[in-house]
Amino acid sequence: MKLAIGSDHGGFRLKGEVIEHLKAKGIGFKDYGTFSEASCDYPDVATEVAEAVAQGEYDLGILICGTGIGIGIAANKVPGVRAALCHDTFSAHACREHNNANILTMGERIIGTGLALEIVDTFLNSNFEGDRHLRRINKIADIENKYKK
Ligand code: RB5
Repeated sequence: MKLAIGSDHGGFRLKGEVIEHLKAKGIGFKDYGTFSEASCDYPDVATEVAEAVAQGEYDLGILICGTGIGIGIAANKVPGVRAALCHDTFSAHACREHNNANILTMGERIIGTGLALEIVDTFLNSNFEGDRHLRRINKIADIENKYKK
């Protein structure tokens, strides 16, 4: 499994914790930044990670900002991306099983590191269940296609 990971300054510290966790587990990843606590704009890193995931360069992505909200809204503008904000483990497996979420978003200002790492593990170890959920995912793609220029 290979992951794309990114954050803005609001998620920089938690991104570092997640990266150490991935390294300890031997999970491959590319860090798209940000690389310091200097203020930056979350749509920039969201776009880079979302495009790479949508193009199939990575199996899944992880994006972190202060709340997980802005970076997820931005990522979801990229066709093919289904970014899910998760601050509990139920959401972390349900978004994979039902929504085939391909990017996990979290907020460093919302949750602690211990829970965040459990959410990461749950997200990475859960799989899409297909069946009726595939029909619904396809309807999301239909919405994207409807608004494509
Ligand atoms: C940055 O201050 C903050 O707005 C950002 O990290 C994020 O929480 C936005 O949704």
